[in-house]
Amino acid sequence: MTTVCSMVLIFNQSDINIDSLVLALELNIFLICTMYVVGWFVGGLVEIEAQQRQQLKENMLSLKEEMARREQMEKEMARLDRLNTIGEMAAGIGHEIRNPMTTVRGFLQLMEEKERYAQDREFLELMLSELDRANSIISDFLSLAKNKAVDLKEQNLNAIIEGLFPLIQADAMVADKNIEKDLGDIPALLLDEKEIRQLILNLVRNGLEAMPAGGKLTIRTVVDREEAVMAVQDEGSGIEDEVLGKIGTPFFTTKDTGTGLGLAVCNSIAARHKARIDVQTTPKGATFYVRFRLST
Ligand SMILES: Nc1ncnc2c1ncn2[C@@H]1O[C@H](COP(=O)(O)OP(=O)(O)O)[C@@H](O)[C@H]1O
Ligand SMILES: [Mg+2]
Repeated sequence: MTTVCSMVLIFNQSDINIDSLVLALELNIFLICTMYVVGWFVGGLVEIEAQQRQQLKENMLSLKEEMARREQMEKEMARLDRLNTIGEMAAGIGHEIRNPMTTVRGFLQLMEEKERYAQDREFLELMLSELDRANSIISDFLSLAKNKAVDLKEQNLNAIIEGLFPLIQADAMVADKNIEKDLGDIPALLLDEKEIRQLILNLVRNGLEAMPAGGKLTIRTVVDREEAVMAVQDEGSGIEDEVLGKIGTPFFTTKDTGTGLGLAVCNSIAARHKARIDVQTTPKGATFYVRFRLST
């Protein structure tokens, strides 16, 4: 723009010969230089303004994204809050339901012992076992509570497995399956014995249920780097991808008579022991690993 203005200025003040052109240039040199400087300055300002405008656009965009993310997070928190309330209510109701159930159970037991109900004994036994099942579902559900108190004592995981082994073996024998243990040398850990027994039983029962008759289930313990690991390996047909993503979600089950609470309870017990559970699965069976941090 400055060049065009300068040329118009020079040609306006001169004839069409070199001398007069040079003269006009000399006369206006100061003005032309000033025009170039002002042009350069204005150009710079325009450039800066364009940059600022672009930056502003980007900032607005990220602000919008941030606001959307925040809104999403608030919604998620409200949902979790509702779930939490429902969970607490469900736990409260579960707990309260147990009292009348205990009364009913007591009377059924009395009736079972009476001679005049002898012909109905079969039904009474069924009612009792169904009540026990309902009670165990409520117990499992209540043990999912995150703030449940744990009674951690320094003890050996192998000793707990050994203590439980006869019971597990009897379970396996009834179903015509085999159990093996391979317990490595592991240090004492901070454990709640009752909870760890429950964890082992849940994993072992899942393993046994996943295998056909004749299958072998192995319980191993080993130290792996900074962790004491208990592995429960079965010879079932493994876990399909679609199922794998959902296991451990309360009430998710693929079994007709399953409760879908076994692994959820395991996860919550593991969390209270600052341990983690992971799964390895192949078409020849699944292995559940419970990894306890070594407190060194
Ligand atoms: N060892 C295993 N092999 C194959 N599938 C398994 C195994 N353990 C768990 N699962 C799957 O995970 C689901 C949830 O298990 P769980 O929470 O213990 O509930 P449930 O045993 O009552 O079904 C099971 O229904 C099953 O599909
Ligand atoms: Mg189970």
